[in-house]
Amino acid sequence: MSQAITTDPDKLKMFSFQVFTKLEGAVTAGMIHLGDRLGLYEAMKGAGVPLTTHQLAAALQLHERWVREWAYNQAAARIIECDAEERFSLSPEAAAVLASPEHPAYGMGMFHRLPQTMATLDDMPESFRTGVGYNYDSHGCAGAIGIERSFEPWNKSFLLPVVLPALDGVVQRLADGARVADVGCGAGGAVLLMAGAFPKSTFAGYDISQHALDRAATKLAESGVANASFHDPRIDPLESDHSVDFITTFDCIHDMTHPQQMMEALRAAIAPDGTWLLVDIKAHDTFMENARKNPMAPLMYGISVLSCMSSAMSAPDGAGLGTLGFSENTARQMAANAGFTRFRKLDIEHSVNAFYEVRP
Ligand SMILES: C[S@@+](CC[C@H](N)C(=O)[O-])C[C@H]1O[C@@H](n2cnc3c(N)ncnc32)[C@H](O)[C@@H]1O
Repeated sequence: MSQAITTDPDKLKMFSFQVFTKLEGAVTAGMIHLGDRLGLYEAMKGAGVPLTTHQLAAALQLHERWVREWAYNQAAARIIECDAEERFSLSPEAAAVLASPEHPAYGMGMFHRLPQTMATLDDMPESFRTGVGYNYDSHGCAGAIGIERSFEPWNKSFLLPVVLPALDGVVQRLADGARVADVGCGAGGAVLLMAGAFPKSTFAGYDISQHALDRAATKLAESGVANASFHDPRIDPLESDHSVDFITTFDCIHDMTHPQQMMEALRAAIAPDGTWLLVDIKAHDTFMENARKNPMAPLMYGISVLSCMSSAMSAPDGAGLGTLGFSENTARQMAANAGFTRFRKLDIEHSVNAFYEVRP
C-alpha cells in the first residue's frame, strides 16, 4: 500500500510548475531544432522586416497553419518577437544566436543534433544497467555535423587571432613550419583553419568517429588545403617519437574512455620543446561547486549522460569523466601524471571552455 503524502498546496503548485518548465524547455528546444532545420530563422533574418506567418510560410513553401503554431510557441517562449498585428521578427541578439553561422554566439549546433541526442534515451536504461555507454558515432552523421556547428563559429572568430597568440612562441613556430596534431579533431574545422593560415606546417587530425572523419574528408576536399590529413588513430596512431611540435585537443579529453593513457600518448608524441593546447569544458572540482556556480550545470550533467559521459564509458573500463568531470585541478594532476611539467591556464574568455598551455 502506498504511503499517504502530506503536501503544502502552494509548494506543490510551485514544484509542479518547476518540473513542467523543464518539459516546456525540452519541447521548445525541439521547436528551435525545427526553426533551424526548416530555415525559418534565416528567412526571418533575411526579410529584415516583421513577417506574418503567411509571408513566412510562402517564403519557404511551407504550410501556413504549421508555421503559425510554431511561431506561437517561439513567441510565447520569447525566442522570437511578435507585434500587435501578429507579425514575427528576430531581435538582433536572436539573429546572432539563431541565424548567423559566422557569429561567435551562434548556437544552433546542439539543436542540430537534438533528435539524435534525445533518441539515445531509448538506449540509456541498458547503459544504466551494464555501465557501458555509446561513442560519438552512435549519434550518426547529424551528430558529427551538430558538433561541427557547435564549435566552429567561435573558433573561426578567435582561434587564429586570440588563442594561438596566447601560447608561448607557437605562432612563430607554425609560421616557420611545424608538425601539428589535433587529437579528437571531429569534423576537422580547427585543422583546416590552422592549415590554411600556416602553409609551411603540416597538420594531422585524429578521431575515432567515422562520421566525423567522413565529414572532415569532404571539407578537406572542398577547402583546397594541401597540408592537412585526417586519421583514425586505431589504424594509424600518433607516433611515440617526440616529433610533434604542437598538439591540440578541443573539447574531447573528457569524452575519452582512457584520458590518462591518451595524455601519456600525447607526452610520447610531443617534441621536448613542444606545446599542447588543451581546451576543455570549464568545471569546478566538486558537484556542489558546479551546481552552485554554474547556471548551466543541469544542462551539462544531462548532456553528459546522453553524450559526453556515455562516450567516456563506451568501453567497459571507461574512465567516465563526463562533461563537468575535468576541472583545472584534475587536468593539471593528470597532465603531471603523464609526464608534463608545465601547466598554465590561459586568460581567454569563453562561455563553456577553459584553455591551458601544457608543456613537457
Ligand atoms: C565533443 S567532440 C569535439 C570534436 C572537435 N574537437 C571539435 O571541437 O569540434 C569529441 C570528439 O572526440 C572524439 N574522441 C573520443 N575519444 C577519442 C579517442 N580516443 N581518440 C580520438 N578521438 C576521440 C569523438 O569521436 C568526438 O569526435
